[in-house]
Amino acid sequence: SRQAIKPFFSQTKFAANQGSPDVSEPPAIASLIASLQMLTHIEGGYFVETDRDPLLIRSPFPLDAASQRTLELVAQQNQQRQQQLPQQPPPALQRPGFDPHHRNASTTIFYLLTPSSPQGNFHRNRARTVHTLHKGRGQYVLIHPDGRIETFVVGQDVARGEKLQWIVEGGIYKASFLLPDRANGNGEELGESREGLLISETVVPGFEFCDHDFLTRSGLMELVSADGAKQLESFVRL
Ligand code: GUN
Repeated sequence: SRQAIKPFFSQTKFAANQGSPDVSEPPAIASLIASLQMLTHIEGGYFVETDRDPLLIRSPFPLDAASQRTLELVAQQNQQRQQQLPQQPPPALQRPGFDPHHRNASTTIFYLLTPSSPQGNFHRNRARTVHTLHKGRGQYVLIHPDGRIETFVVGQDVARGEKLQWIVEGGIYKASFLLPDRANGNGEELGESREGLLISETVVPGFEFCDHDFLTRSGLMELVSADGAKQLESFVRL
């Protein structure tokens, strides 16, 4: 049976853009963000790219009309970002010298959800992503290309079915939200997440914005039933 999907945090703030952290976080989380030099992520939460394999491989993704359009859109948005804040331009969406026929063999990021930025909104990549948990708990919601909804909990309690590792294949829409910690011993859910949800994500072949897109409201309506769309619309950014 389909599980009800309810965000734990009623007040959902998400980072509007990729850039300097501007939300106030509790000291332990602020210190983690500073130590790892994380930025706000356009999906919500924080991230930092920790590895980009210098090995270039031929892109396995066809440069069809749709991906040409995405490339142009990314280039346009990139230009707008540079013009908006000439003193302090936000990080580029398209890396200088990027050749759409090639990809780095892999990229890896840290990704963090916190009580102030507790959700990652629905998006997909053309490449597959390998996720590894470091700390905290979270709920994942996937929408497969045929409209099937899959949900699971990531966390340390493997005996209760929580995942330490999870793979999301290319083309699947993914959203995530922070869950409260479990008490040591009895495993009961506590009222809060003290240190957020910290994971690593390795994208193969490597991440590029032109391989990434957000789910829109109309896209959601096309994929799932009206009932499903109602439950999931709070995870749609556009
Ligand atoms: N830049 C913005 N978002 C991402 C991401 O998800 N992965 C990588 N590697 N870089 C990014």
